[in-house]
Amino acid sequence: MRTRKIGQATVSAIGLGGMPMSIEGRPDEDRSIRTIHAALDAGVTLIDTADAYLLHAGETGHNERLIAKALATHGGDVGSVLVATKGGHLRPGDGSWTVDGSPEHLRQAAEASLKALGVDAIGLYQFHRPDPRVPYEESVGALKDLLDAGKIRMAGISNASITQIDIARRVLGDGNLASVQNEFSPAFRSSEPELRHCAEHGIAFLPWSPLGGIGAAARLGARHSAFRQVADARGVSPQQVTLAWMLAKAPVVIPIPGASRPESVTDSARAADLVLSAAELTHLDKA
Ligand SMILES: NC(=O)c1ccc[n+]([C@@H]2O[C@H](COP(=O)([O-])OP(=O)(O)OC[C@H]3O[C@@H](n4cnc5c(N)ncnc54)[C@H](OP(=O)(O)O)[C@@H]3O)[C@@H](O)[C@H]2O)c1
Repeated sequence: MRTRKIGQATVSAIGLGGMPMSIEGRPDEDRSIRTIHAALDAGVTLIDTADAYLLHAGETGHNERLIAKALATHGGDVGSVLVATKGGHLRPGDGSWTVDGSPEHLRQAAEASLKALGVDAIGLYQFHRPDPRVPYEESVGALKDLLDAGKIRMAGISNASITQIDIARRVLGDGNLASVQNEFSPAFRSSEPELRHCAEHGIAFLPWSPLGGIGAAARLGARHSAFRQVADARGVSPQQVTLAWMLAKAPVVIPIPGASRPESVTDSARAADLVLSAAELTHLDKA
């Protein structure tokens, strides 16, 4: 599989998003483990997770523990797999999402993620979502402290504006902002300026919900005819075309499509080697 860089780490150009395996509609653990194993078998070496991917109160770290278990039971060489987790979002268990970007919470959350993942240092730790009650500098400052303490190897942010990206670059220090994870899909293109900003500064850009989100991903071809047309002409899925279109936007782009079935992740992983023509890309950009 083609690879890309996050900081100094080399990862597969397509990652796996773990959220569908832990929130509403999640499958049983056996199917989740088979899904993660299918990703590894397909050459995926980036898995995105968060402490808040859970369903019931008291399940913080559900998705992180699942990924740790899948890695431990795979049987192959998983040494090069980068697990990217996040802190700063919470799910009390009533279906809602809340935020806590205080340095104290982020420190505790990172400690809990270390335990859930069963590692000495987290490969990539991302500040999940800005907390309007906490100055952004302070939240990112907590990531800098975690970096300096060796608890995390790389720092990233998510749901960030260009202003916040620049604050994070300054607070973390030169070259230490490894990634930005923002929503980006055929239906949601308004984060293209942040994508361009990341490309300019060599920061990995991880589109979240790249297929339109858990509920909409299966209908992508029906909702976006240009993507279906290119897919039909190529004999591949519209989801693969979508991911290949994103990869062509800039060398820093690494989509993280979610999956709860082995078939989905196996299909998505093929997008890493699908190279679209300039005419196809223009057609999709204009759609
Ligand atoms: N930073 C943030 O605030 C934030 C927010 C949302 C998500 N995320 C991250 O981004 C990841 C991706 O987003 P998402 O899971 O919300 O949405 P998504 O990737 O747009 O869609 C996920 C759904 O796509 C389906 N799918 C995947 N590949 C497919 C294929 N090749 N053909 C047909 N269907 C396919 C999967 O179906 P099956 O379930 O049937 O396999 C899955 O349920 C998440 O898992 C999470 O790690 C981050």
